[in-house]
Amino acid sequence: MEVIPGHRVMGLEAPELAMAAAPGQFLHVRCSDSLDPLLRRPISVYSADRERGTVYILYRIAGKGTELLSRVRKGELVDVMGPLGSGYTLPKKGEGVAVLGGGVGIAPLCFLLAEIKKLYGPEKVSVFLGAANYTAIPAVDQVRDMGFAVHIATDDGSGGFKGNVVQLADEVLGGSYPERVYACGPLPMLKGLARRLGDHPAAEVSMEEHMACGVGACLSCICRLRADGEEPRYAHVCKDGPVFRLKELELLD
Ligand SMILES: Cc1cc2nc3c(=O)[nH]c(=O)nc-3n(C[C@H](O)[C@H](O)[C@H](O)COP(=O)(O)OP(=O)(O)OC[C@H]3O[C@@H](n4cnc5c(N)ncnc54)[C@H](O)[C@@H]3O)c2cc1C
Ligand code: FES
Repeated sequence: MEVIPGHRVMGLEAPELAMAAAPGQFLHVRCSDSLDPLLRRPISVYSADRERGTVYILYRIAGKGTELLSRVRKGELVDVMGPLGSGYTLPKKGEGVAVLGGGVGIAPLCFLLAEIKKLYGPEKVSVFLGAANYTAIPAVDQVRDMGFAVHIATDDGSGGFKGNVVQLADEVLGGSYPERVYACGPLPMLKGLARRLGDHPAAEVSMEEHMACGVGACLSCICRLRADGEEPRYAHVCKDGPVFRLKELELLD
């Protein structure tokens, strides 16, 4: 189902996945029956309805794989591996939370917000969503319907604050970030957040890296981690992530 132009939600009847999935984990999706594209595409779990045994993904049609996926019709089989990777650390009951999503980066954060709502409700949570323009931000209504305060940023000023989502969060929070910060979005956004919040003890971000195997068996998705006083080390985004602590990541161009 198309939710905003170029973005679709797909429900997958998969009771075991629905039970096992945690916020920030992803599915490795085979987008067609043919060998082109050969590689699976990583897509985050957007929500999981454990009672109905259904997992949902929200995806932007970015290229060949996701375009082929958009042609799958109700009742057809989709080959997925998952849930893969390690997800976000849930906050402790009552901790203050800021959630920052860029574009379709809202997908894993929606799942996280649903779990936080179950834990202790929406009161202590601020959500910041941004994109180039208002029509490119999916799931705003879903997040509002869960009861969260949502702040919008757009590059062109077509909705909410004119600027990026990190600038908006800075302005609304007055520079004082809560105990937990969660983010997902394009690399420039994550870099902006790292410049602003690089030593926050518990800020976590989900990395978007090209992937092949999805399970740590190749080297397609390497990223660099750093720790104070130590040599940088390498990690697999698919297996060690995709969620990492922001202060441990070296965000390279
Ligand atoms: C852990 C993880 C979770 C993701 N979750 C989602 C999600 O929930 N919803 C969603 O819409 N997308 C998500 N993505 C991005 C998604 O995997 C890519 O958009 C998809 O693989 C593109 O495949 P394609 O064949 O349609 O396009 P391609 O033709 O392969 O690529 C189209 C364009 O997208 C860029 N691209 C491809 N793969 C990636 C990638 N992994 N990261 C950044 N840019 C990429 C390419 O460089 C190219 O410019 C996620 C990526 C990762 C790593
Ligand atoms: S995609 Fe192969 S190691 Fe991560």
